[in-house]
Formats: sequence, structure tokens, C-alpha cells
Amino acid sequence: MQKKGNEAKISPVLAYTMFDWKNVKKDFPIFEKRPDLVFLDNASTTQKPLVVLDAERDFYLKSNANVHRGVYEIAAKADQLYEQVRTEIAEWIGAKPEEIIFTKNATEAANLIANGLATTLGVDDEIVVTELEHHANFLPWLEAAKRSGAIVKITKLGVNGGTDVVSEINEKTKIVAVTQMSNVMGIGPDINEILMAAKKVGAKVILDSAQGIVHSGLRVDQHKIDAAFFTGHKLFGPMGTGILFLRSELSGINPLLFGGGMIKELPDQWLDTPHKFEAGTPNVAGLAGLSAAIKYLRQFDVKEIAEHERSLVKMAREELLKIEDVRLLSPQNATSMVSFVIEGVHSHDIASILGEEGVCIRAGHHCAKPLMNALGVTASTRVSFAMYNGPEDVEKLISAVKKVKEIFT
Ligand code: ALA
Repeated sequence: MQKKGNEAKISPVLAYTMFDWKNVKKDFPIFEKRPDLVFLDNASTTQKPLVVLDAERDFYLKSNANVHRGVYEIAAKADQLYEQVRTEIAEWIGAKPEEIIFTKNATEAANLIANGLATTLGVDDEIVVTELEHHANFLPWLEAAKRSGAIVKITKLGVNGGTDVVSEINEKTKIVAVTQMSNVMGIGPDINEILMAAKKVGAKVILDSAQGIVHSGLRVDQHKIDAAFFTGHKLFGPMGTGILFLRSELSGINPLLFGGGMIKELPDQWLDTPHKFEAGTPNVAGLAGLSAAIKYLRQFDVKEIAEHERSLVKMAREELLKIEDVRLLSPQNATSMVSFVIEGVHSHDIASILGEEGVCIRAGHHCAKPLMNALGVTASTRVSFAMYNGPEDVEKLISAVKKVKEIFT
């Protein structure tokens, strides 16, 4: 499904894309303000369409009030909006509204679930994670293990970005916490296979969906995962909006935050889920923006976007491989990103030269140090695509990388 008429052009240099990315790009005001911007750091955060900016502004302009506290008209409106966003997100991912918990980001959501499950663990229990994990789905489990005496098992990176999670699952496994899609490799382990093995031994499966939901979607009714988390700002929504899907059966876990808006009776009778997990004033304007972002995204077919991004990945890989000393780290079947190194050039030098050319990418360890170690590098360069990128962006990337080579030869 194309949103508007298909005006995509065939690049003379690089291959051709069917997705109407040029019209999509017009929905994002930053590209009008900065016409030369080549934004290829979308795994870090995405740009925002005008509808998202308008939704946030509208909230502050027309109905700014706190939620679950006031009884006046705009307070009631804010309450309604807040709960409506919860219902929309639940419907989108196949959950019940009360299974959607608002946090400030994916990291807070990961900490909430790991902290909550820590009290259910004991000495000798095992938590399985993979070498592909972002620190957000790694460090909270190390902390949970430290507090409970449980053991963290880390599955090794295999060929082509694979990792064998299933063979690490046994009777001692209580939690399997895996990424849907690595923020460096652009692929993830087979979730169905993991679920089957985990359910056989009664282990809980937690999914880091921060990257995966953007490019593959998430349906918790199809994948019977116990909890999943993601963030709004990678979904074209505002920063400061995170989501934890927590299956009803787990709603008895301890809250992470204590304070206003989560108590029934002092000192420790909490409100029912999800409110018991949402102490303090939430980012209501941000959630209005996130609602607009999800509606915007749902106009498109997620498979068509993924196919478009895959064609850009293919072009970038082919062109990068023509440049001497470039070594690709992410596999061929990666969705939406290419990670690479240039032998003899530090990734931060690559990023700053690319930055001077207006090409925005991310360099460093990508908050994935176990993976960097497994790949045998201390840092890498990552190019990550979104639906508004096109072949022209790849062309500019390639000419900037050639410039890096000129400077460092
Ligand atoms: N997790 C984000 C990234 O991979 C910030 O860049």
C-alpha cells in the first residue's frame, strides 16, 4: 500500500525502490528546514512528522491538565486522552489496555520488569540473555541476578548474527530475555522457537522490542510472550514515552517507582495495574504525540516499509564493499541497518567526517559491549534507515565514506 501516488524515482547510480519515500519525507518538517540533512541514525531516534508535533502542541494549547487528579473539564479530557492512548496501543499490539504501562523510555520499562521479577528468583535459578543485547536488556538482569543470587547465562554470537538461545534453556531457566532485533546487527533470534522451549520448562520470555517493533511490528497475542518493552521516540513519536507490555498474570510484581498516583491505602496497598506502576506525573503530551505517530505509521504496510529499507541496506552494502578496507559486521538479511568498520580508521573519526558532510550516523559501542567483544571490535559505525530515506541518501553516504578513505590514505 502506498500512502500517496507513487512518484519514486529510479536512481541512476543505485538500484530502485518502489516505496513512496519522497512523499513520506514531506510529512517531516525537519527535512524542509534542513534540506541537506542526510539522516541515517534512525535506530538511535527517528524524526517526527508534523502530526506528532501538532498533537503535542494541541495538548498544551487546549487541554493541559494533570491526569487522575482533577475533576474539572480539561482534567477529565486529559484523563480520557491518557486512557485512550493506552487502549490504542493495546489494540495495536494485541494486548488488554491494563497490560500497557507507560514509562519514560524502554530502559525504564526493562528495569521495571527485571526489578519486579528479581524477587521471584533464587540461588541457582537461571536468566538467559544473548550477546546481541543492548545494555538496557542486559544490565537490569545482571542487577536482578546480583540481588537474588540467580545466574545470568549469555548465549554466544553464532554465524551471520545468529545465537543459539534454545540450547541454553533448561529446568533451571526462569527468565529468557532477548532482543527482537539487535541495534547493531539488524536481526534477532527466532522468537517462536524460544517461546516453545521456554514454555516447556515454565520460563518467562521478555522481549526487547525497541528496534523490532519499528520494522517488524509486535503482536503479543500471536507471540505469547510474558512482557515486552519499546520506546516511542524510535517510532516517530516524542522522546520520554516508553511502553511496557506486562501480561496480566505478572501484574503482582513490585512497582519500580513509589509516590503519587499509585496508592490505594498507606503504606503499601497499591492501586491495580497499570496505575500501580505509574507513580508521578506522566508525559501526557508526549503520549498524545505517540498516539499520532502510531496512527501515522499504521497508514503504511509495515512489510512494504521493511522491503524499502531492505533495498536501501542492499544498496549500501554493495557500495560499501567496493571501498577498500571496509568490513561489514551486520549480516546480509539485516533489516534497516548496516554496521561496518574501516580497517585502520576509528569509527568516531568516520562519524565526524561524515557529520561534516551532513551525513548523520552513529559510531561507538552502541550500548552493546558484549556484542562488540564477540565481534572482536571496540567500536563500529552504524547506518540505520527509516521510511523517509531514499537512494540519494545512500549515494551521499557512499561519497562521504570515500572522503574518509581519501583523508586516511
Ligand atoms: N538504543 C539506541 C541506539 O541503538 C539509542 O542507537
